[in-house]
Amino acid sequence: MCGIVAYLGEKEAQPLLLDGLRRLEYRGYDSSGIATLDHGVLKIAKKKGHVQALATHLSSTPIGGKIGISHTRWATHGAASDANAHPHTDQSGRLAIVHNGVVENYLALKHRLTALGHTFKSETDTEILAHLIGHYYDACNEPDRLLKAVRAALREVSGTYGIAVLHQDHPGLLVGARRGSPLLIGIAKDGHFFTSDVMAIGGHAGQVIELKDGDIATITADTHAVTTIDGGDADFIVKQVEASEAISELGSFPHYMLKEVFDQPQALRDAFRGRLDREASTVKLGGLRMTSEELRRIERIVIVGCGTARHSGLVGEYLIETLANLPVEVEYASEFRYRNTPMDPRTLVFAVSQSGETLDTLGALREAQRKGYRALGICNRVGSTMPRESDGGVYMHAGPEIGVAATKSFTSQVMIFTLIALLLGRMRYLSAAQGQELIDGIEALPGLVEKLLAQNDAIKKVAEKYHKVRSMIFLGRLHHVPVAMEGALKMKEITYINAEGYPAAELKHGIIALIDEETPTVLICPKDSVYDKNASTLQEIKARKGPVIAVATEGDTQIGTLADDVLYIPDAPEILQPILASIPLQLFAYHCAVLLGRDVDKPRNLAKSVTVE
Ligand code: AGP
Ligand code: GLU
Repeated sequence: MCGIVAYLGEKEAQPLLLDGLRRLEYRGYDSSGIATLDHGVLKIAKKKGHVQALATHLSSTPIGGKIGISHTRWATHGAASDANAHPHTDQSGRLAIVHNGVVENYLALKHRLTALGHTFKSETDTEILAHLIGHYYDACNEPDRLLKAVRAALREVSGTYGIAVLHQDHPGLLVGARRGSPLLIGIAKDGHFFTSDVMAIGGHAGQVIELKDGDIATITADTHAVTTIDGGDADFIVKQVEASEAISELGSFPHYMLKEVFDQPQALRDAFRGRLDREASTVKLGGLRMTSEELRRIERIVIVGCGTARHSGLVGEYLIETLANLPVEVEYASEFRYRNTPMDPRTLVFAVSQSGETLDTLGALREAQRKGYRALGICNRVGSTMPRESDGGVYMHAGPEIGVAATKSFTSQVMIFTLIALLLGRMRYLSAAQGQELIDGIEALPGLVEKLLAQNDAIKKVAEKYHKVRSMIFLGRLHHVPVAMEGALKMKEITYINAEGYPAAELKHGIIALIDEETPTVLICPKDSVYDKNASTLQEIKARKGPVIAVATEGDTQIGTLADDVLYIPDAPEILQPILASIPLQLFAYHCAVLLGRDVDKPRNLAKSVTVE
């Protein structure tokens, strides 16, 4: 959530910062702003709306300088407006700050500062932090007073932050700090960066330092130093920037979401590459950092995540229970961290997150660890907080996901759960032959997805028929219940059409009241063990004149005669079908959104990774 880019070096800051903001826009996009020292004077430009609004403004009124900070916002405190956009200044107007996160005690701090004569121009919590740093700055006379002031202010802040601070009286220095929100130092030949995401500096900086919670760093054009909030030295590791992690090219696709849907065959291959062990009919996942004995001793699994990641966990529950006969529970990460969930001693926790930065999920992971459970991560972003804090885990290797609506990360997460289920299953009840069969199915899956994607135009035609409806229902049974929920989430997120996903049998327990000629139902009913049950559900909907869009297996002529429209998926072993069934729903939501003229990659009110509670 929100993007920070700050630069100090030999080059003009404005073009570098704007370029970085454009690349970070998926993290928050209700307003943006930039501050530089132009001939030694603090200059600020900020605009409501997408980064383009700021760029247009700067093209007529550029601000110069070789040092600057910038921000793209996802509002938590105060509406999206020019005044609330970052950077914010202190009382003196000489210090500027950009901030990602939430200052939870901002009201108490505001009262204190108001009593001292401070006045404020915005409704944000961030401006209070700017004033608090300024307050300590004014009270200090030492040469490193900016660093000291940041440190003193942050000691009083509760909540989360990733910040970058610029001061007119320190033209060769930027201060950054993090707690709960990511911040990295980028090291380039011509200078240094702070950024919340390596994507902003790919191609400019060759190396990065990922700051840890509690770190405060200073950068100059050619030096960097990391200390802690308590004033001690902090350890850090300088890492090379991997091009595949830092850059995502749109190519000929009109939107990142569509590109990422089409990335799925490769993303799936990358998820299982090098992990299938044909010889032993099992899977190798070294990152779990658990011995076979330890894995065999597990008696229960708890999966935590938010949104799409949680939906993948629900498919994981089905997979692990079916293949390994282990009880699994899936919890909303945001609930798990505050509930006192009873846990058996032999419980293993999986936290699932594409970004590895979702605060609710990190909170759940930390709570599980606090209680003494081993908590593993399933994560996409290398170098994010989750892999650093978890006791082990599995990388998805899906590559950068920029579209706010998660697509390839969902199918990659389901693939990882399939691998985990197979591994645990082979340690318990699955025969070598069953393991072998699954491995064959897994390896065949990317080819089937390629085949499925070739139906994009047919899916678009179905979207043309339905995109103007006000609400939709998504239904599935067993392993397709979470797929129905995920299909509904995609539809809601990017089209703003009201959509809900339920187990198909729940229809008759209440939802059936919603069925009418205007309310289509997407029914996931491929050839599987509950095919006949789904066919009955379809009849129940048709008996009430509800339009039905069926997701069915290629060659199923029966469904074609009952449903109004059919999105076909290739046949595959039942256990692997959720990956296939979710893809036409991604494309259906995508085409509905495009036809409605929605901003597909940046739907309203959302942000790609939610680093606040
Ligand atoms: C998915 O389309 C959503 N944008 C959202 O539900 C997302 O999956 C959720 O916020 C979790 O994100 P994470 O995987 O980065 O933790
Ligand atoms: N809490 C700050 C605000 O509302 C920062 C939000 C963000 O992370 O973008 O301005």
